[in-house]
Amino acid sequence: MAADLIFRRKGAPDCKVEIETQLNVLAHSQLGEIFIGSQCGGHGKCGKDRVRIDPKDQSRLSPVTSAERLHLSEGQIAEGYRLGCQCWPNDPSRTIVADVEAIDPREREVL
Ligand code: FES
Repeated sequence: MAADLIFRRKGAPDCKVEIETQLNVLAHSQLGEIFIGSQCGGHGKCGKDRVRIDPKDQSRLSPVTSAERLHLSEGQIAEGYRLGCQCWPNDPSRTIVADVEAIDPREREVL
């Protein structure tokens, strides 16, 4: 049975999107109609599509990319921050929770 990628937001119900391993986290957010801040169309250039995924769930995602290392500090990566366009779930049977509210909304502003 397929598991969900759950987008957690304050003051709103969780948004659950069935995990598809060929889609990155940004694409899952778009399927769930959740705006996570993409400004570059998912090319790893803007660094705005940040989500925080519990560090214990990180093994359920593809490894951190060079684009993420460019936009996120080592401390942020250790806390579980990822760029939605740069990470893919690797196991469709295991749920992942992405905290959207952990990100300062000013970081998502469209310039
Ligand atoms: S959408 Fe711009 S870095 Fe991911």
